[in-house]
Amino acid sequence: MRKMLNCLFLWGGVLLTACSTSGQNKSQESKDTVDFTKDIHSFSEPESTVVSHLSLELKVDFEEQKLKGVAKLLVDRKKGNKLMLDTRLLTIQEVTDGQEKLTYTLHEAVPFLGSPLEIDLKEGTKEVWVYYETSPEAPAIQWLSPQQTAGKKNPFLFTQSQAILARSWVPIQDSPGVRFTYDAKVEVPEGLVALMSAENPQIKNDSGTYTFVQKKPIPAYLLALAVGDVTFQPLGKNIGVYAEPSMMKEAAYELGEMDQMMLAAEKLYGAYQWERYDVLFLPPSFPFGGMENPMLTFATPTIIAGDRSLTSLIAHELAHSWSGNLVTNATWNDFWLNEGFTVYFELRIMEEVYGKDFSDMLALISKRDLLAELEGMEYGEDTKLKLNLEGRDPDDGMNSIAYDKGFYFLKLCENTVGRTKWDAFLSKYFSEHAFQTITTEEFLTYLDENLLSKVDGAKETIKPDMWVYRNGLPDNCPEVTSFRYDQVKEEVGKFIEGTSASDLQTSDWKYFQEWEYFLSALPDALSKKQMKDLDKAFKFSQTGNNEIRFQWLMHVVKSEYTPAYPTLEKFLMKVGRRKFIAPIYKAMAQQEGTRALGQKIYQKARPNYHYVAVSTIDTYFAEQAKP
Ligand code: BES
Ligand code: ZN
Repeated sequence: MRKMLNCLFLWGGVLLTACSTSGQNKSQESKDTVDFTKDIHSFSEPESTVVSHLSLELKVDFEEQKLKGVAKLLVDRKKGNKLMLDTRLLTIQEVTDGQEKLTYTLHEAVPFLGSPLEIDLKEGTKEVWVYYETSPEAPAIQWLSPQQTAGKKNPFLFTQSQAILARSWVPIQDSPGVRFTYDAKVEVPEGLVALMSAENPQIKNDSGTYTFVQKKPIPAYLLALAVGDVTFQPLGKNIGVYAEPSMMKEAAYELGEMDQMMLAAEKLYGAYQWERYDVLFLPPSFPFGGMENPMLTFATPTIIAGDRSLTSLIAHELAHSWSGNLVTNATWNDFWLNEGFTVYFELRIMEEVYGKDFSDMLALISKRDLLAELEGMEYGEDTKLKLNLEGRDPDDGMNSIAYDKGFYFLKLCENTVGRTKWDAFLSKYFSEHAFQTITTEEFLTYLDENLLSKVDGAKETIKPDMWVYRNGLPDNCPEVTSFRYDQVKEEVGKFIEGTSASDLQTSDWKYFQEWEYFLSALPDALSKKQMKDLDKAFKFSQTGNNEIRFQWLMHVVKSEYTPAYPTLEKFLMKVGRRKFIAPIYKAMAQQEGTRALGQKIYQKARPNYHYVAVSTIDTYFAEQAKP
């Protein structure tokens, strides 16, 4: 029997209204009953006192690398007389109720979870003001020197709150099950703009103070701030892009099809709920491809390829506006509910905009990645959809299984009941759970009651429990074929058998994915002659497409192809996207012939990387150092 990991706290008749000074649509956001599923990654005790609104006032100090200010929290009290907040490396100066001091205890720090802040409330206390500053080591914040930006003249900063890093820049109940509205006032140095996961300014002002409102209740992992010399360009009604001035032209071109993605998404699963959708391009050290901060997706500039070929990432982050931001995983153990649905939705958007031919290729890439991940994880416990992250940093346990196995589970549901019923079910799911959290168990019950039980034999065919609670990949995983990839495989075969690269038939290849697949399907270690032949024919060393570049660099490492080492080093010095740099360093650390070079480059590049990238890559070299 599976052990129940979550205890459920239920309150009848409690009205949780996100009481905001900014006034919002109450009917949408209030609930009669609130249930808080125990989150093992938060010290907050929302069943006693829960934060419903945050007013943040911050001053951004680039010299000291600190945010300084006050977080004014509106609380709903259920029982007891304390408020528990999550903090990590914060210096707490004072806590008041807006007038008088409140007593508090900042408990000892627990690894990766931080220090619980326990505040004693007086009778009738409804507001709690926490005066604080962040540490230069705050894991959520990356402070960039002018040299690390495109313009090279101004500093930059961005935050990354998911999964449990928000607590290192705001004292808050940092649990996906706690939603609150927010407003903010942020003071920045002259010439810079502040942007948040909220209604944003579109022009620079002279005062250097920017104000923000987020009227919809969001969990803390969606709090975000960026400060830099950025400008705005509209791309359609209610959509636009922010980027440093020197890259705006390329940025705006790359996102030229975003309006079509929005149309497709709304047609599929209902109206967009967040008013505006803008994308901010960050400097290349951003550790992720994209982050779905509400109203303002943060994106890596490594998707700017000049031909709009990498924008499925934008479809993914846009899809999170429904799966994740509207309907949220209750705990990080239920992460697949955020990411599996989002990959599924992303591929449906891509199919709608670019056709089935294209989305089939993406599905096949997902299968390839899934099989590789399962293999790499030896089909162990973390290959279940429902995770058990007890005692671990969620960032260590959350892996791509949630994305790809999650996608295939949902694809199987679609195939079994047919698209019409499935789409109707999903639209209903999103609208009935809007602005709420959901556990895996609640989802399975909802799926059964609203869909599977109504279609003969569906549950027996799908076997949901097998997908969710067992390791590995069930036998009923859908097969996907792509005639484009079949053609690519043929050419791979020919190359392995000795046909020279320039004689391969590649003239029909229409998408970069075909090239990427070609490289990934080649044997890991190629001979120097083969590498040279490939580069001469296809100019992989000079590609502007970072997905191709990544696959090529993996071969450069595994084949120890020294002529391309300068390109390798240049890439690692500039780009901080973990998906690319972590596998490269891992391969370098594992090979005798590349280990020393890997370590040398890493030492030089490490200060350019964000905390989440560093915490992954450090382990590769540490493992090698062990006897
Ligand atoms: N929400 C994730 C990023 C994330 C996940 C941050 C877990 C911290 C913890 C985001 O939506 C995402 O999945 N990004 C992907 C891109 C996507 C196209 C698969 C990435 O960054 O690679
Ligand atoms: Zn995602």
